[in-house]
Amino acid sequence: MMKRISILGSTGSIGQSTLSVVEKYPHRFKIVALAAGNNVMLLEQQVRQFKPTVVSVSSEDSAEILKKRLQGFRVRVLSGIEGMIQVAATDDADVTVSAIVGTAGLVPTMAAIRAGKRIALANKEVLVTAGELVMHECRSKKISLLPVDSEHSAIFQCLLAGENRDIKQLILTASGGPFRCLAKEDLAGVTMAQALKHPNWSMGKKITVDSATLMNKGLEVIEARWLFGLPPEKIKVLVHPQSIIHSMVEYRDGAVVAQLGMPDMRGPIAYALSYPDRLEGVSPELDLARVGTLTFEEPDVDRFPCLVYAFDALKAGGTMPAVLSAANEVAVRHFLDEKIGYVDIARVVKSTMDAHQPSAIRTVEDALKADLWARKKAENLIETGITRQSM
Ligand SMILES: NC(=O)c1ccc[n+]([C@@H]2O[C@H](COP(=O)([O-])OP(=O)(O)OC[C@H]3O[C@@H](n4cnc5c(N)ncnc54)[C@H](OP(=O)(O)O)[C@@H]3O)[C@@H](O)[C@H]2O)c1
Repeated sequence: MMKRISILGSTGSIGQSTLSVVEKYPHRFKIVALAAGNNVMLLEQQVRQFKPTVVSVSSEDSAEILKKRLQGFRVRVLSGIEGMIQVAATDDADVTVSAIVGTAGLVPTMAAIRAGKRIALANKEVLVTAGELVMHECRSKKISLLPVDSEHSAIFQCLLAGENRDIKQLILTASGGPFRCLAKEDLAGVTMAQALKHPNWSMGKKITVDSATLMNKGLEVIEARWLFGLPPEKIKVLVHPQSIIHSMVEYRDGAVVAQLGMPDMRGPIAYALSYPDRLEGVSPELDLARVGTLTFEEPDVDRFPCLVYAFDALKAGGTMPAVLSAANEVAVRHFLDEKIGYVDIARVVKSTMDAHQPSAIRTVEDALKADLWARKKAENLIETGITRQSM
């Protein structure tokens, strides 16, 4: 059956991979709505190729430019948060792909859930910031939230092999990032360009830096906690530099079920869109004889403390994961602007968390308030140089 798709974040790495899946299977998928930030040129090309009925961009200025470029084309051009919400919840869509980066994706994703859309979730920050609330809303609307993150897609698939009551633990694999073999004393000098060279995956800048600090894995632990309803003690991280095993589930009888594949996001994206069907030839074939060796090691939390901070935030509960995520977003942005160093990212996150008293999240507004508080605190820490002085 033809599925009608709306994409939040169509100009990003996941957004573009989603469009390439849609392009390959035109008899299965149709694009009806797209939302982006401010990459008007790319969005214009996407509109011309995929012919959605509604699109949205971040600013009014970008919307004006897009309208001019698309004069005579049958498409509604919207802007701002209202525009994103309309794209997320449009009547025409069956599935909404949530692929905006950061907390900016929370409100439109909630709007899609409330409108009863199936969600293909790439934006992990949505579940990190307000996981309990989002899952509660999904249950009460009886909608499926299907993971796009390759690790969570793998676990979702491994869980088809057993019963939830028999799970011993989830094992999230991590590539270890570009600095896996670097000595602790050398981490202080690494550059933004080095952090952006991920060994196995091609992704947006923020998630690539998160992979280099292992914060990405920490965010994924929190994401897994809410997606699969398991406590942090049952979620383990294992470094697997080849990124062939995307994650595993260990059952109580000792059986470990793994999902393998080439590192290519089109696989998990297509699975989230077509589930329970599997499409022919989505990602490149895995030739294990050619891969040869699969290796594993424990994560080094001394060199990569962000992973511990994520577990700490999960245990503290309430607003703490939202604070971890927002402080990290601020720190990563400053690192990408070359205003702070690589090791400062962890310092900003830790100092922001240390200054926070967690409280319960009952509404989206509670989550956004904590997010805003953490952004201000993190900015302030960076401005006053507190993190550097404590080195
Ligand atoms: N890339 C991957 O392989 C991968 C894998 C697993 C999970 N994820 C998760 O998927 C999400 C997206 O990652 P990505 O790598 O695709 O990021 P990305 O390449 O940086 O793309 C981000 C997208 O979000 C849009 N955007 C950013 N801020 C926005 C705002 N305030 N309002 C509206 N749109 C906004 C951008 O628009 P413009 O560019 O037009 O400004 C772009 O379309 C992240 O949460 C990431 O953790 C990614």
